[in-house]
Amino acid sequence: MQTVTDAAALRATVRGWRNAGQNVGFVPTMGNLHAGHHSLLKLARARADRVIASVFVNPTQFGPGEDFERYPRTLAQDQAGLAEAGCDILFAPEVSTLYPFGAASSVSIHVPDLTETLEGAHRPGHFDGVATVVAKLFSLVQPDLAVFGQKDFQQLKVIERMVRDLSLPVKVMSGATLRDEDGLAMSSRNQYLTAQERARAPQIYSTLQQTRELFRQGHSWQALEQAAKARLERAGFVPDYVAIRRAEDLAEPGPDEREGLVVLVAARLGATRLIDNLPFD
Ligand code: PAF
Repeated sequence: MQTVTDAAALRATVRGWRNAGQNVGFVPTMGNLHAGHHSLLKLARARADRVIASVFVNPTQFGPGEDFERYPRTLAQDQAGLAEAGCDILFAPEVSTLYPFGAASSVSIHVPDLTETLEGAHRPGHFDGVATVVAKLFSLVQPDLAVFGQKDFQQLKVIERMVRDLSLPVKVMSGATLRDEDGLAMSSRNQYLTAQERARAPQIYSTLQQTRELFRQGHSWQALEQAAKARLERAGFVPDYVAIRRAEDLAEPGPDEREGLVVLVAARLGATRLIDNLPFD
């Protein structure tokens, strides 16, 4: 596996692959890779002749006071894991490659509607940063397909919408959320948890499971949102939201709508903010 920081070198290699009739899969990441990322890579590997992963901690998707500075940066470890997972190129650009005029002066992509709710409401500007960097990465890598995790459900929807709206020639695919044995969704941010918090953290997933079960038994989504929030509060979380939404567009379901829904949660546990979701179908 090659590690490339330079955009021109990346393009030259990709051009060579294309000339040889090979297609390209892409897995964008912020590094500190775990089994969840590797499963996305495996998916790309199964669908593409060549696979590129990027590691870039994108400054524009972090708000003031968020964890940009302390976000774990573990490039050497990531390189080893990616090589083992069959990645062809690790693209690890400098900030100046993605933001030649500086992050604050960058062109910015705003995906309306979908980004005004849930994570977008609690992290203003976050999805502008995500959409912008993903569009820039797509432009540099020029992949045929790109794989994103379902754990960041709203992010996935935002990227799908952006790709469709801008007619970008990239097939967006998604990989299932990988969980630790006790149900906690894998995330680079889990390592911020203290031992006590880590023991409590799986209650997010058990709350989602219980919510789905009660929904299947016929309870209303509004009552279940309240019940799930109260359950998390009792367990010591500070929920930003627990929301049952239409999976397709994250809109609130109609009163009798029972199909195609997903429950999404964001909650703080001490200094760590965790997100998770569970589709009902
Ligand atoms: O999901 C992530 O790791 C990031 O949001 C992404 C898609 C790599 C953009 O920085």
